[in-house]
Amino acid sequence: MTAAKITATGAYVPEREVTNEDLARVMDTSDEWIRSRTGIGSRHIAVGESTSQMAVKAAMDVLSRSRWEAEDLQFIIVATGTPDHLFPNMACLVQEAVGASHAFCFDLNAACSGFLYSLSVAKGYIESGMYERGMVIGAETISKVVDWTERSTCVLFGDGAGGVIVEKGERGIGSVVMGADGKGGDVLRCYSSNILCHSEESRKRIDYLHMDGQEVFRFAARQVPAVIEEVLDREGLQADQIGHYILHQANERIIAAVARKMKEPAEKFPVNLSRYGNTSSASIPILLHELDQAGALQPGEKLILAGFGAGLTWGAALVEWNN
Ligand code: COA
Repeated sequence: MTAAKITATGAYVPEREVTNEDLARVMDTSDEWIRSRTGIGSRHIAVGESTSQMAVKAAMDVLSRSRWEAEDLQFIIVATGTPDHLFPNMACLVQEAVGASHAFCFDLNAACSGFLYSLSVAKGYIESGMYERGMVIGAETISKVVDWTERSTCVLFGDGAGGVIVEKGERGIGSVVMGADGKGGDVLRCYSSNILCHSEESRKRIDYLHMDGQEVFRFAARQVPAVIEEVLDREGLQADQIGHYILHQANERIIAAVARKMKEPAEKFPVNLSRYGNTSSASIPILLHELDQAGALQPGEKLILAGFGAGLTWGAALVEWNN
């Protein structure tokens, strides 16, 4: 059977780094509070740079590490909950900028689960024989939808983009399980339809991101192990057969809780949120890229990718690494 595999990764984060100490100079918070509750030490914030511009830079990075030219791509999917505007979609902007003239393009919003959801769509296209290769990108400018006077949320997030090439192969992306619970929509929401924030005036009209942190924490600690177990069951695998668990980077304590529930060592759950904060749909592809670049992933190694976020949404995938 035709499988879909990830054959190249890439990422981009904006240059401006904002540390916990930087935040503590402008609001009532501390490095100790943020680090001990979340594991976050700093984040990158887009200054004068949009979601689409970061997506383009990530796409160019992915292409530079791939054997394909932009014109070879048949589709581009951009997972984002923070597009520059409503339309044209971000994927079309990426297509135009990189010259992927044969690709069809759309965005997908499943908040922090967006990359996982998009990967499953790419897998479906390829396994069904409809298409042979495309690009999936997660890109977010969360900094423009958080209220910078609300210390309980703004310290958690960062901006960035990451992506992968998904193409036809013999092995690669295995079982994917996704879910959603619309009843939980209220616990993490951003009802704003004005996301451009060009002026101070437009920022005043924004309904910023709201979150019930403890409820989101409980949801993630419960749902992520459950969805991973479902993937393992479908694959007939035990948890200890997984080399790395690449989880959405929201909070180190959530990741540790998942590791404990899975009875797996914390070392199998890599984290980079100390440097980037929660970059929503970009967090998994950025981490995957960093691990790949560091040579941390072995050929044939089985990985679990798992995301969760607003919606509520969640998803997990088995990936046999053969990049
Ligand atoms: N700096 C200092 N103090 C802060 C603070 C900050 N940045 N943010 C909140 N506080 C204060 C609160 O005002 C509160 O003070 P009080 O006790 O005097 O009222 C106290 O810290 C505890 O706040 P609380 O919200 O109960 O903290 P918490 O232990 O639940 O931690 C989160 C808050 C957000 C770190 C935690 O709930 C969490 O990580 N949840 C998951 C969020 C997440 O991952 N979301 C994304 C999912 S995709």
